[in-house]
Amino acid sequence: MPVATLLRRATRALQRARLHYGHGTDNARDDAAALVWHALRLPDRPGAARLRRGASSGQQARLRALLERRIVGRVPVVYLTHRCWFAGMEMYVDERVLIPRSPLAELIERGFAPWIAAARVRRVADLGTGSGCLAIACARAFPRARVDALDISADALAVARLNIRRHRLARRVRALESDHFSALGREAYDIIVSNPPYVGRAELAALPPEYRHEPALALAAGRDGLDSVRAILRDAVRFLRPGGILVVEVGNSEALVRRRFARLPFTWLDFTRGGGGVFLLTREQLVAAQRSAQRARG
Ligand SMILES: C[S@@+](CC[C@H](N)C(=O)[O-])C[C@H]1O[C@@H](n2cnc3c(N)ncnc32)[C@H](O)[C@@H]1O
Repeated sequence: MPVATLLRRATRALQRARLHYGHGTDNARDDAAALVWHALRLPDRPGAARLRRGASSGQQARLRALLERRIVGRVPVVYLTHRCWFAGMEMYVDERVLIPRSPLAELIERGFAPWIAAARVRRVADLGTGSGCLAIACARAFPRARVDALDISADALAVARLNIRRHRLARRVRALESDHFSALGREAYDIIVSNPPYVGRAELAALPPEYRHEPALALAAGRDGLDSVRAILRDAVRFLRPGGILVVEVGNSEALVRRRFARLPFTWLDFTRGGGGVFLLTREQLVAAQRSAQRARG
């Protein structure tokens, strides 16, 4: 059977199954293409001539098995192919880590402009690194910086280390097991970036089955989803250099964060490629907020 026909049939099968998208792809055609290329071990953009050629029965059987895991098991495609792209870089991904999809990629690609002068950036921390995608993208964006990739999950750190090695960044990116900032001593950073868990209990229970394949640790953050954000807002200031910035993704918890931390002068960032729910605070803003809270307590 020609590859083009396999692709059409796979797309229709996925469309009929009414799956949830949002783990790196947003439609059945892209999911089908990723699975067909993977099953047939084809490059990402096979030419028209290759699409007209046939697929062996072994290749077709491999594709059927993958489609069954996507449709019946509701496994996101990236966990089947084990690869995805983030900030223009290929990442290895499996079920030990969240599938990279943060809008922060866009901000990192432009060197956090206009919020910090790229030339001054020497130290970056990525809190809750998962696959290491943000840490690795930061190391690429700031070639003179050293990056700490922190995570509480030893499993996630194993994946992060693999990606760090693949991108030949082991000399500048260090993966550290840490409950938020607990493993840090007197380190101080120009940038602390984080995509922490931010899903509340009720919202977690209502997520489509695809999300159950992601580590609970990567999504769940207590009853209201803000356990991690609270810890970051409490402690980040101690680990920022003067002029340093804290950038945190909180996704659709943005409204709740605005309400719960009404005194903090957040800047909410815009993204041209979509996504949102990312705030920025400077060290000086955090210091001022702490002082005014102390004064208010008397
Ligand atoms: C939403 S995932 C983000 C992964 C990756 N940075 C990304 O953007 O794809 C959150 C990560 O935070 C980690 N995490 C959860 N609680 C943590 C804690 N208390 N301290 C450090 N990391 C934590 C999880 O293991 C997970 O890897």
